[in-house]
Amino acid sequence: MQLIDKFNNKTELVGIFGHPLKHSFSPQIHNTSFEALGMNYIYLPFDIPASNLKSALKGAVALGIKGMNITLPHKEKIVEYLQDVSEEASVIGSVNTVVNENGVLHGYNTDVKGIIETLNDYKETIKETDVTIIGAGGAARSVVYSLIRHFKVNSINIINRTHQKAESLKEYFSTKMLFDNIKAYELVPPDLTDVFRNSKLIINTTSVGMYPEMDDAITSIEESFHKEQIVFDVIYNPLQTKLLKMAASKGAETISGLKMFVEQAAASFELWTNEKMPSDIIYSKLKEELINGKEGV
Ligand code: ATR
Repeated sequence: MQLIDKFNNKTELVGIFGHPLKHSFSPQIHNTSFEALGMNYIYLPFDIPASNLKSALKGAVALGIKGMNITLPHKEKIVEYLQDVSEEASVIGSVNTVVNENGVLHGYNTDVKGIIETLNDYKETIKETDVTIIGAGGAARSVVYSLIRHFKVNSINIINRTHQKAESLKEYFSTKMLFDNIKAYELVPPDLTDVFRNSKLIINTTSVGMYPEMDDAITSIEESFHKEQIVFDVIYNPLQTKLLKMAASKGAETISGLKMFVEQAAASFELWTNEKMPSDIIYSKLKEELINGKEGV
């Protein structure tokens, strides 16, 4: 069908607000889903500098935009411009999805849904165990929240290059969620061998898989992995990060970030449309594209 026939005065608009906008699979995920379900929607990227966020939100309401994904650098700042923020987004302090309900803007953090869907099969296995998280940024906050709220783990080790940030995260969640079994460590890999070895679940929330300087650090913890462990990397490109390859070589169960990525998108999709995203189709399609080295649009 020609584009000109496809969109009309009934077309609903959703999109992503960020700056600078990096390559992203989100437009493809949502537009493919709309097409598959025969829905009259379009998802577009909007490059919005920080100084324009407030006016862009007013514009979105004025134009009747149904909802948006929110990415860097707006995820924290946007909270003050929304009329309503969900419990998880408020505790995490970060919003990745907004729904415009007749001019009232509601904020959510669907990464939590992505994490829950990814780890649900292991719920009983990780309950009351010790878990290690690498990183203390935005992704780590969603992971810590999900582990405490939904997976009832025993303890959480937060390991970060900048020790102070790990400490701040520990303090924050101890106070906010009254969970005081968190320990903060600086990322000094050989010293942490026991911490890694004694963890049932290890989650990488940093972009380290993409940094060659981290290869040595990861290599130095190789001996910590074993077959009783689950290792989850939130990175989905590449599908098999260096960390996952190493963990798999020691017999650990490994999980790539692709399911989390697809499920957080599915949760946003459902919030905007009240329809289920065809996650299985999207998952297979993305997997194939990642294997073929595509980078999104
Ligand atoms: P996100 O929102 O994706 O989590 P972020 O908030 O910028 O991104 O956090 C990035 C995380 O990756 C941080 O924990 C960062 O460590 P610092 O707090 O020390 O900056 C971590 N990180 C990024 N590059 C890294 C590298 N080369 N080695 C180790 N950690 C790295």
